Amino acid sequence: MKVVFLGPPGAGKGTQVEIISSRYNIPKIVMGDILRSEVNRGTELGKIVRQYMEKGELVPDEIILQIIEKHIKGLDSFILDGFPRTLNQAKGLEKITKIDRVVYIDVPDEEVKRRLLARGRMDDKPEVIENRLRVYKEQTQPLIDYYESKGILVRVDGVGSVEEVTGRIERALGLKG
Ligand code: AP5
Ligand code: MG
Repeated sequence: MKVVFLGPPGAGKGTQVEIISSRYNIPKIVMGDILRSEVNRGTELGKIVRQYMEKGELVPDEIILQIIEKHIKGLDSFILDGFPRTLNQAKGLEKITKIDRVVYIDVPDEEVKRRLLARGRMDDKPEVIENRLRVYKEQTQPLIDYYESKGILVRVDGVGSVEEVTGRIERALGLKG
């Protein structure tokens, strides 16, 4: 199964992908974690992507597509978290492989802001959160219609306990009845 998790910052993508990936033994590719690891190790790539991440801007598509291609190679099953985030990335992904399902985790703005402010990651500062939400609406939200028109989008209500949301995702993916 090749699945993409889509949703605003703070929707719970990372939380849910971790659970589904370990429960069903499906490899996960978490773009934010890959980029943060480059930043933390101070690599050349890390120095470049840091400038975008700390402002809540998207890292350029060419860089992201190179990274994803390397990670997807040889896998016939995976979960993608945080990729694709632009139409251009979605089209790049199609050239590499075919996606079976896109899980869209729907959470209102007020709730994601509350969650992110409570967490406090490097990019969880109020003004950066606002920018991440703005960038999400401009560049990533169009992917919802894009995948819906392809007939592979499933919408999941992301408000509720972590276990409740996991149950909704498992049913949406036909993993349990
Ligand atoms: P990324 O790391 O992907 O961050 P994000 O999309 O902003 O989302 P988060 O990771 O903050 O939220 P999440 O949906 O994973 O929720 P989580 O489970 O953590 O990207 C960071 C940056 O990297 C981007 O801004 C960009 O610069 C760059 N980047 C990444 N991918 C890129 C790409 N493809 N192209 C270009 N640039 C890219 O949960 C959030 C919090 O809520 C946690 O504290 C959690 O414990 C809590 N929580 C989770 N579920 C619930 C629940 N049900 N109820 C209450 N609290 C909950
Ligand atoms: Mg995440």
